[in-house]
Formats: sequence, structure tokens, C-alpha cells
Amino acid sequence: MTQDLTETAREKFAAHFGCEAQGVVFAPGRVNLIGEHVDYNDGLVLPMPVKAGSAIAWSTGEGSDIEVHAADLAESDGFPADAPSKPEQVGWTSYVRGMAAQWDTPIPAMRLLMTGDLPRGSGLSSSASLCIALGRAFDAVTGGATDPTVLAEKAQQTEHEFAGVACGIMDQMAVAAGEPGHAMQLDCRDLAYRQVAMPHDWAVLVVNSGVTRGLVDGEYNARRAQCEAAAAALGVASLRDATMDDIAAADLPELDARRASHVVSEIARVRQASNALEQGDLSAFGQILREGHASLRDLFEVSHPVVDQLVDRLQEIVGKDGGARMTGAGFGGSVVVVTSPGHVAAIEAEFGDRLLRVT
Ligand code: GLA
Repeated sequence: MTQDLTETAREKFAAHFGCEAQGVVFAPGRVNLIGEHVDYNDGLVLPMPVKAGSAIAWSTGEGSDIEVHAADLAESDGFPADAPSKPEQVGWTSYVRGMAAQWDTPIPAMRLLMTGDLPRGSGLSSSASLCIALGRAFDAVTGGATDPTVLAEKAQQTEHEFAGVACGIMDQMAVAAGEPGHAMQLDCRDLAYRQVAMPHDWAVLVVNSGVTRGLVDGEYNARRAQCEAAAAALGVASLRDATMDDIAAADLPELDARRASHVVSEIARVRQASNALEQGDLSAFGQILREGHASLRDLFEVSHPVVDQLVDRLQEIVGKDGGARMTGAGFGGSVVVVTSPGHVAAIEAEFGDRLLRVT
């Protein structure tokens, strides 16, 4: 938990609402080490939580409304706790209202003050972080202790129904159930997971490319539709059940074949990366990250020239001691680097202001 951020939320709550908060909740962001665009194909992923995230200070209020203030944007919203309607335009209020709409027990009148230190659009799941923090605030007032998997499912529903993004469940699971310093081996088919401690002599860093994702939800949803079309043509429930041989033997449209090849090879890479992680084989892990990036760039076509250059430069710095690749949905966002601690100073010197240390 980021102590400073929760204190900031508490102070801003008092300044904004003129009374003390009753509690503060926190949820982190996440970085995905490998397993990109496979969660909505029932695949395997390997994300981990980052230290930055979202903090929400809360108290119960008078009447029956939820009053919420987004401190970082200096914007407010208010709506009846028992009838959270969908905003006309997708924005931060969509997540607040969406999570309230998913709640099974009645939420009393509340005041919420939200703040965060995850750069939006940087590919570190600021929206999943916000949704899970909101869920924790609603849990705090409704006396629940919602299971992390159920919380993640509510957050995913919020994205689908209130934000119009047909996302998978990796981000929400990593945020709700991830453990700091651990990679989460998550099977997106049955949501079974296992936490694997990152070796002490591996460093995980995230470098923000500065290219923010914008207006690309259509591209994301289109990728998902292409994957589903490929699965249907191959006669499988999802691409998790397909092999490279199936793709080669089928008469898929060229574009769908490329998308499917990424997914099937990426799921195999997650298995290989999990083995390399458990064996502490940094050089093999790095090689898998490099192959993953090439596949996202060339087959799935979700990278960006600025991100590709950043990956190349980071790769140049770390050499065979690890690897770098884009992380998250793509179209900009961040690059993850897994390397040995000896290379951290050089990366810090070059990218200090855009760098986030995960371990
Ligand atoms: C976004 C989505 C996730 C996942 C990744 C790509 O972060 O929210 O569900 O599909 O993109 O791996």
C-alpha cells in the first residue's frame, strides 16, 4: 500500500468535505509481464501489482446519494445510491456508477474522495485500480468482504456495461488478488491462480512511452472480435483450445490467421516464461519477452513506433540480462523491462522521469 497516497486522500477528503473520513481504501495498478491479449481468449497470463494505484477516502453521508469528488481532476458527481444511472459520456463517473450498479447489497449515502498516482492511459490499469478501490469502499460500508475474484468480476462487468470496453479479466484479477513482489500465474479460463515470488536478483521496471492510449477502444474490441471469429472458424470454444497446426491447416482469412497465431503462441510463451521464472533463468525469460513483443508488433499489430523504439533501446541496455516488451493493451502506454539489478542505474539515468520501479 502506498502510505503517502492514503494520507493524501484523507487530507483532501477533510479539505473538500469539511469533515474527517471514516476510512481509506487502496488498490494498486498492474503490469503484465507476459500474456497479452490472451485473457479474453481463456488464456494464461503473468501480471503483477505495482506500487502506484488509487486511494479513496470515504465516510457515510446524510440522505441517500453517493457524492464523489475526483481530486486529481477537480470534478465532482452525485447520484442516488440505489439508482446509479449510466452517464451519457464515458468518463471517470462511469466507473463509480458502474461499480455501485454491480453491488448486491444496498449502499448507504456516502461521500468519496478519490486520488491516484497511476498515469492514465499508460497501460497500467488505472481503471481496474479505480474500480477495485471503489469496490473496497463499498465493501467497507456494506459490511461485506467480497471475495477478490467476485470483486474482479464486478469490475469487469463495469468496463463492459458502463465503459463499453469488452476487456478480459486479467487487470481486475491482478489488482484485486495480486501480491506485491509476486507474479500471478492466472488461468483466465477458470480464474485459478498461484503467486510466484520474483527472484531477488531480478529487477522489474516500467517505462512510460508518453504515448497515451486514446480513442482506441474500438481497436481493442475489434481484436477481440477477430479472435472470436478465428475460434469459430476453427471450431473451438476459444483460441485457448487451438494449436498452430490447426491454424496452418485451416483456411482462415489472412488477418484472422495472424491474430490467432499471436494468441496461440503467446499462451505457449506464458508457460515457458513461468518455467523460466521458477528456474530463475533471466536470460530465457528475457528472450521470451522479446519474442512476445515481436508478435504483438507484427502479428497482433497493437504496438506503436515510439514504443518499438523504446523497447529496442531498453533491450540494447540490458543485452542478454533480461528483456523488454510493451505491456497492456498497446497502442502506446508502457514498456516493461525485466533485468538484473546491475542495469537499473543505467535505465534510471536515461529514463528517470518516466520510470516506475516495480521491484
Ligand atoms: C487491457 C485489458 C485486459 C487485457 C489487456 C491485453 O489491459 O483490460 O483485459 O486484454 O488489455 O492483454
